[in-house]
Amino acid sequence: MNRATATAQAPGRVNLIGDHTDYNGGLCLPFAIGLGTTTAARARGDDRLRIRTSAYDEAWTGRLGDLDLANRATLPTWVRYVAGVLWAARESGWPLPGLDLVIESELPVGAGLASSAALECSVAMAVGALVDRPLDPGSRPSIAELCRRAETDFVGAPTGGMDQLASLLALPEHALLVDFADTSLRQVPLPLREAGLVVLVIDTGVAHELADATSGYAERRAECDAAAAVLGLPRLGLAWADDLSRLTEELHQARGRHVLSESARVEDAVAAIKDLDWDRLGATLTSSHASLSRDFAASTPELDLAVYTALDAGALGARLTGGGFGGAAIALVRAEDVDEVQRQVDEAFDDNGHPAPTQLAVLPAAGAAVLAQA
Ligand code: GLA
Repeated sequence: MNRATATAQAPGRVNLIGDHTDYNGGLCLPFAIGLGTTTAARARGDDRLRIRTSAYDEAWTGRLGDLDLANRATLPTWVRYVAGVLWAARESGWPLPGLDLVIESELPVGAGLASSAALECSVAMAVGALVDRPLDPGSRPSIAELCRRAETDFVGAPTGGMDQLASLLALPEHALLVDFADTSLRQVPLPLREAGLVVLVIDTGVAHELADATSGYAERRAECDAAAAVLGLPRLGLAWADDLSRLTEELHQARGRHVLSESARVEDAVAAIKDLDWDRLGATLTSSHASLSRDFAASTPELDLAVYTALDAGALGARLTGGGFGGAAIALVRAEDVDEVQRQVDEAFDDNGHPAPTQLAVLPAAGAAVLAQA
């Protein structure tokens, strides 16, 4: 039986560690944050689609027949994320009616907090509830895959799938360990609150862009694919460290060094968390930033300033989070030090002539949920 209305919420995420590993077949360790996107879906009696979003204060009207790869370039960019989910859902056999969708987001766009995934996942969960698809935890990896296809195939952003899995499967007080060699998942208890710690998000305000074929993100992905091809592997993360010496280009070696060492750091981070060794976790986060900055060239002056100022101000560790090239950094901070770290970061941004960053303290929160259906 189809429902008439359904509302679902899906959160953004921070990636604690493991960046640019997902599309390379490596490890990552994201957790959901308490900010997200809500979609209210209503079934219509015709074939029309009406989508409204608070993020852009715009509405879009179309028809189910517009959900076609050939049409995607004619849609406004933000609509592509929503239409892409509906397109992928229909491709997967969901019986879609015409729909009214009202979308509200609390997440800043381009901050590296996975606002796109939150949007896709909230649409998929609301529409999935409307047409009675299974949305239990066991079914969610396939919903995440549907949302990833929307983003890569329909929107054209060559992202790797971490964000959608985090948004759909995260648990409070846990991080989600994903091994993209076989997309296996493990919930890792992350008792930050008990330890008196928070993760401070420092959004540099420099928007990063993943959906553009000329973006730094797309360029890095192409470099990793090229390096993997030289090694005769489907993905660079499947190489052994010894293999890297077979790469003749220094640039490919550097990308490979990051990808392989980053997965190893995710394992170190999981071990440190298990031992409740927060200093070791912090040091591992900071090494990740150095690798993303030096070998992967994904940092910016603003991200470096955020990371190194937070460390000077007493953070246990800090790194850029997500795709880089702008967006946010995170710092692992004792709860009592948050105000001072924030103050010093604000001051450093001001001294260096950058606009004030947006800062917020987060803890691991719940994944997506259907809030109401009737
Ligand atoms: C973005 C992408 C993810 C992932 C990260 C980098 O958030 O959406 O798939 O590749 O960048 O780790």
